[in-house]
Amino acid sequence: MKRILAKDIDETKAMYLVFGNPGTGKTTTAQYLPGKTLLVAIDGSDRVLKNQPDIDVVELDKEDIADIVNQFEIILNTIESEYLKTYNNIAFDNLSHLQDIVLSQLSLMNKDQRKAWGDMQNLIKKWIGRIRSWNMTIYATAWETAETFENADGSSSTYYDVLMNAKVRASVKGLFDVVGQTFIYQDEHIIRLTPNGQSQVKNQVDNRVYCLTKDLFNGKEWTPQLKNKETKGDNN
Ligand SMILES: Nc1ncnc2c1ncn2[C@@H]1O[C@H](COP(=O)(O)OP(=O)(O)OP(=O)(O)O)[C@@H](O)[C@H]1O
Ligand SMILES: [Mg+2]
Repeated sequence: MKRILAKDIDETKAMYLVFGNPGTGKTTTAQYLPGKTLLVAIDGSDRVLKNQPDIDVVELDKEDIADIVNQFEIILNTIESEYLKTYNNIAFDNLSHLQDIVLSQLSLMNKDQRKAWGDMQNLIKKWIGRIRSWNMTIYATAWETAETFENADGSSSTYYDVLMNAKVRASVKGLFDVVGQTFIYQDEHIIRLTPNGQSQVKNQVDNRVYCLTKDLFNGKEWTPQLKNKETKGDNN
């Protein structure tokens, strides 16, 4: 434990979590982190980072996945002992898949499935808490879930959130400074950073509503341009 003055809080080392549907650019966004990044490729979707000079990747093989509970502890231990000093950022891609494979292993190990769920929740929360204690720039990804609820008047509302077990999700999101949602709009890869009543995002770092995925870490905002208007102009 150490006590510091509020003015000395280091706001440059934030924790970013982005969730989004497959193909929206979550993994690619890791290449825009300034400095050197170590990326733990949990879901194996790291091909898009090939030849990126500032990214090194920890890939998991079949045996690692089958024993993910122990292997992830080993990865965290190794990062702590060897890599926190040599990298500027650590990335985890992605947490939804991490939850799935941890639960698969624990389900096989436990007759009591409720215990498997409880153990999975505790492990993921413990790991993310440990990652937070590193005081590093952390970038993590997750898939998106869309949940639709019927309103009293018969209409329905859809909410978009991180695809994780609800109890884990609340604790995990609480530990991140930014939770954004990736999507593609008019061929651009965008991140929503401010809640709009449907997307369960948060932004404790700045006031941006949207950014391009390439600008997540540099503070630049993106505002929707009326492309149709331009097209119309071209035609006239
Ligand atoms: N900013 C960008 N501009 C242009 N193309 C991009 C951009 N970001 C990602 N892409 C392209 O979109 C495709 C999907 O990107 P990526 O693999 O990063 O998505 P993902 O969200 O990680 O998907 P998955 O959930 O399936 O792993 C890739 O072909 C990638 O090259
Ligand atoms: Mg990916």
